[in-house]
Amino acid sequence: MKTFSDFDSRMMRRALELAAGGRFTTAPNPNVGCVIAKGEKVIGEGFHFRAGEPHAEVHALRQAGERAKGATAYVTLEPCSHYGRTPPCAEALINIGVSRVVCAMVDPNPQVAGRGIKMLEDAGIQVDVGLYSAEAEALNPGFIKKMHSGMPYVQLKLAASLDGRTALANGESKWITGPDARSDVQVFRAMSSAILSTSATVLADDPSLNVRWEQLPESVQKDYQKANLHQPVRAIIDSQNRVKPHHQLFSLPGKVVLLRTQQGTEDWGDEVEQLIVPGSSEGIDLTAALKVLAENGLHHIWVEAGASLAGSLVEQNLVDELILYQAPKLMGADSRSLIAIRGLTAMSEVPELNISDVTLVGRDIRIRAIPV
Ligand SMILES: NC(=O)c1ccc[n+]([C@@H]2O[C@H](COP(=O)([O-])OP(=O)(O)OC[C@H]3O[C@@H](n4cnc5c(N)ncnc54)[C@H](OP(=O)(O)O)[C@@H]3O)[C@@H](O)[C@H]2O)c1
Repeated sequence: MKTFSDFDSRMMRRALELAAGGRFTTAPNPNVGCVIAKGEKVIGEGFHFRAGEPHAEVHALRQAGERAKGATAYVTLEPCSHYGRTPPCAEALINIGVSRVVCAMVDPNPQVAGRGIKMLEDAGIQVDVGLYSAEAEALNPGFIKKMHSGMPYVQLKLAASLDGRTALANGESKWITGPDARSDVQVFRAMSSAILSTSATVLADDPSLNVRWEQLPESVQKDYQKANLHQPVRAIIDSQNRVKPHHQLFSLPGKVVLLRTQQGTEDWGDEVEQLIVPGSSEGIDLTAALKVLAENGLHHIWVEAGASLAGSLVEQNLVDELILYQAPKLMGADSRSLIAIRGLTAMSEVPELNISDVTLVGRDIRIRAIPV
């Protein structure tokens, strides 16, 4: 197995840190960071900011200039080998004459998939792969899942009382969780490529489902400019064409996708697209809907809907990660439950999850869990 020096580790950790600088803006492209070092001196740093703009390596090479000759480039993802909107980064590294490239992981994009590494090796450059690969993968769950399976990465957000209830029997639910949890939700929304909800939730709450600058935590506002605020696409499941142009989400900036079984006749503006997907007994075929979203470049889906959609997604094994906010409140047995999973009669059928993180967010608990 390849061993890396402490200096290599330090440089890759810095590259990972830089990569995260694009977490609100790169979609549908991956987050990538790059550090160029000569001897033990950093001579260039960069990260990919937005699709169509220069890749991380190009920013770092621009900073390093001619000094990059004979240097080592640390990249969180294999340098690309193809002409997309920008020329191949492997070529740029070869042209400037770096002598070694360390990458955290191979690019799962079938257009690259080892070809970048081969280009570099064919040019006589030493390439070492696999330093902090798990951390690099964690930067781009949506991009990686889409490349491997054609499906998007799905995060299901839920908010409940300590006894797992989401609304009183009369439907009242505002607000179960506190301002810090709501601010935390804004960060997840901002990192997603689409927020998925339903006609039922739109009809009940008329939500805006957008990212609001003033609700982002100060720590985020500090290193992310308001002018760069990216609005995820709002994708609404609406099998019976019940959502109408007067709903609030259409009056706000950003694109809306309606997932329907047939075209509606409403007069939608340019920002609204109707995607037609097959129907199912519950409305629409969720696997097909998620696949269509991924095909449209929406690789990372953040779900905010009610118990019915949550139940269907869990039953059909379509959830990659569950993010549950629990408020220190007890709402009692008459209140509505969190996830409508039906027909369970044996403990062996009960879905299980592994908890990956528990954090106190203000007065609420945030649990992150991965279905087994
Ligand atoms: N606590 C929270 O975090 C939270 C977040 C959001 C919403 N909510 C609450 O949730 C309530 C709505 O919950 P809900 O359970 O009635 O509705 P829901 O889960 O939001 O949506 C269910 C609707 O989705 C559509 N759908 C289409 N295909 C489906 C499928 N395969 N599986 C499931 N649904 C499918 C159906 O409407 P069509 O037939 O029109 O397609 C169905 O009625 C609202 O009152 C809202 O306040 C809570």
